[in-house]
Amino acid sequence: MSKVIEIRSITRDFPLGQEVVKVLKGIDLDIERGEYVAIMGPSGSGKSTLMNLLGCLDTPTSGSYILNGKDASKMSDDELAEIRNKEIGFVFQTFNLLPRTTALDNVALPMVYAGATKSQRKDRAEEVLRSVGLGDRMDHKPNQLSGGQRQRVAVGRALVNKPSIILADEPTGNLDSKTSVEIMHLFDEIHAAGNTVILVTHEEDIAEHAHRVIRLKDGRIETDERKTLHTPTV
Ligand SMILES: Nc1ncnc2c1ncn2[C@@H]1O[C@H](COP(=O)(O)OP(=O)(O)OP(=O)(O)O)[C@@H](O)[C@H]1O
Ligand SMILES: [Mg+2]
Repeated sequence: MSKVIEIRSITRDFPLGQEVVKVLKGIDLDIERGEYVAIMGPSGSGKSTLMNLLGCLDTPTSGSYILNGKDASKMSDDELAEIRNKEIGFVFQTFNLLPRTTALDNVALPMVYAGATKSQRKDRAEEVLRSVGLGDRMDHKPNQLSGGQRQRVAVGRALVNKPSIILADEPTGNLDSKTSVEIMHLFDEIHAAGNTVILVTHEEDIAEHAHRVIRLKDGRIETDERKTLHTPTV
């Protein structure tokens, strides 16, 4: 298997007034291509801070982050923006869609930065929207969609450039339990199609979908457990 993510001794400090808040206190983490990982832990333990680093939305204070063999901890903002667009699909708790823009154009947007032509963008965005079950909602704007449908659009947007990892920070945090299950089935499918999926959740039944559960506590990895697929009968 090949490593998508190699993190060594990552720390992240935030200056706060005269003080420095140490949020991540030394994280080592390897993730192989095709893994399905849930990150859990109490509020304030550093989950979103870690996800933002994984997603190249932020850079560490110290330590290294190798993403697909490239050292992201030393990249310029432009290089980070490029790698983010190509390699990473990010799904947020609050969807973060452009409000006055159709589902189709929201999904197609990352392809604009990737330099695709208009017809390539349209074809691919339609394909992706169909794959997330929104073939009949392409021209709807976010306020004409349900919460679950909005999150499907956001998942479509995350997938459109065929990234090497899908990151989702509490993707079901704003959804009811039935809709959450539907969105998790979508992540299951995305994983089954060969993608690497990493998501943050507070809920054990959401984490059940993953094959590996990492628990953070106070800026450190407390436990990191892979599920055994076959329980040995002794
Ligand atoms: N930009 C910042 N400046 C100062 N402190 C920050 C900043 N970002 C995060 N923190 C602090 O880092 C800690 C971890 O925040 P983070 O958002 O990573 O937690 P979390 O595990 O995602 O929590 P939750 O489950 O509530 O989403 C918090 O104490 C927070 O106040
Ligand atoms: Mg968070």
